[in-house]
Amino acid sequence: MASYFSTELNKSIKAYLDRFETKRTAILPILHAIQDEKQWISGADVLALEQEYDLSAVEVREVLTFYSMYRTSPPKPYRLEICKSISCFLMGAKESVKTAKEALDKAQKEGRELPFEVHEVECLGQCGYAPAGYVNKDRQNNITPERALELIDQYSKKYDNESQEKK
Ligand code: FES
Repeated sequence: MASYFSTELNKSIKAYLDRFETKRTAILPILHAIQDEKQWISGADVLALEQEYDLSAVEVREVLTFYSMYRTSPPKPYRLEICKSISCFLMGAKESVKTAKEALDKAQKEGRELPFEVHEVECLGQCGYAPAGYVNKDRQNNITPERALELIDQYSKKYDNESQEKK
């Protein structure tokens, strides 16, 4: 029977199961391998691990929900990162993050899904431009709350335009 996982992933999963003493201890690196390949871990991945490798779905879900480094939903097209380290913190980064997250929540409640997710990150070496950050690979300086909203607006429009062009 064909495996649910790719050949590469099967190799990695088997290698981790061989290397670790118990199946439970192999769960973390296995989930990393899945996330590396697929960018997130779905319910179908969890079930396939149980069916093909006899890894308890309950235990896998426990690990998934305990550690914040695992994604259980697909990544959004744009990732707004705002530095939370000292210089940016002092220049109001927390407020910028809060404002950006509230904008995404508000849009969601109104039935609009913005192509964004917001993350706080450690120092990016742009401390002179605090609060500093990135939208995907685009460097951003002085991300005040107003600027955070502008960025969300600007990139969301860009995404809409690109999506229209593809149709
Ligand atoms: S403290 Fe934010 S970039 Fe360094």
